[in-house]
Amino acid sequence: MPRAAITGWGRYVPPAVLTNHELATVVDTSHEWIVTRSGIEERRVSHVSNADMATAAGSEALAAAGVDPSELDHVIVATCTADRQIPAMACYVQTRLGALRAAAVDINAGCSGFLYGLDLADGLIAAGRAARILVVGSEKITPYIDLEERTTAVLFGDAAGAVVVEPATGDEGILSINVGANGALADALTAEGAGTEFIGDDARLRIVMDGREVFRNAVSQMPQAALLAIKEAGLQVDDVDLVIPHQANQRIIDAVAKRLELPAERVYSNIARYGNTSAASIPVALAEAVELGRVHPGDELVFAAFGAGFTWGAAAVRWGPRVEPVATSDLAYPPPDRSALELLVDLHRRERG
Ligand code: UT7
Repeated sequence: MPRAAITGWGRYVPPAVLTNHELATVVDTSHEWIVTRSGIEERRVSHVSNADMATAAGSEALAAAGVDPSELDHVIVATCTADRQIPAMACYVQTRLGALRAAAVDINAGCSGFLYGLDLADGLIAAGRAARILVVGSEKITPYIDLEERTTAVLFGDAAGAVVVEPATGDEGILSINVGANGALADALTAEGAGTEFIGDDARLRIVMDGREVFRNAVSQMPQAALLAIKEAGLQVDDVDLVIPHQANQRIIDAVAKRLELPAERVYSNIARYGNTSAASIPVALAEAVELGRVHPGDELVFAAFGAGFTWGAAAVRWGPRVEPVATSDLAYPPPDRSALELLVDLHRRERG
């Protein structure tokens, strides 16, 4: 059975930066509260569509792998904030990349979506049914921010990350992967305003979350999933060079490190700069970690996520010999014509009048 390996990595983080101080001019909050309770200092607000962000991240991952878009068998996009309900956002990404032979599908598993996508890619490669798969995690979540709801307004940001998955040629690759869900707690983290349930309703786009319930479940489920992935990979916790957890809250990331008994420097965190970017957070963090030299040939990595559903997942991945991209993408968008704060306030006005 061929093992699936990550051969390309890429990310798109929108250029417009929104600091806590700026956010505190339109939301009843403060920089101190946000940093203390979540570790977030700033986030990005996208001036391009979710599909544009996904395409840019995908293009960078393909270039890093040295794979031509026409060689892709599947484009899998994990998102819970698709530009449209129909068709799948992956179809826009497929055509913009020129991945003309590829099947295209979206999956929605909230913040765990990237790991659900990686699980599908792993299965397709193991079954010999595909040889080159692009897995993207991409979220334009800022339109869901309700400036009147301070508990959620401070947490989220926009971004996209992507990986290329191919059959391994050596002993690298996805050593184990597990995903799970508990739909009994579905209402603890949901979005109103999008979906047929809201037809005829004047419900606006907004995230509705029982933060404490999410927190409680995340700090137990993420380490459990990570420990299972480590065990099923035949590894010990001490073998793990770097854990790349979903970036939801620095306190959750710290709890994962504590539960795994790993020092903070072996658990990657960039939440201070991007906030919670949902399904994008792990592939963005991975691409950044590789760029920053935090991932070395042969490193044992662990990814772990938790999110709406509730859903969760974890993977143990042995990195391959290459930490340099084969090439870089030249896809670029014109810069935003407004500040991040103006983009956010404009979204809020258009959505809420
Ligand atoms: O990816 C999965 C998605 N979501 C998550 O993972 C989120 C998980 N949950 C969390 O990260 C945390 O629960 C939050 C960061 C959302 C909230 O932190 P908390 O420590 O659980 O705060 P809390 O909701 O218990 O609120 C504590 C206090 C309250 O005031 P009182 O009742 O003690 O007077 C809130 O009204 O903090 C107040 N508060 C705020 N104050 C200033 C809540 N949000 C804010 C805010 N600014 N933004």
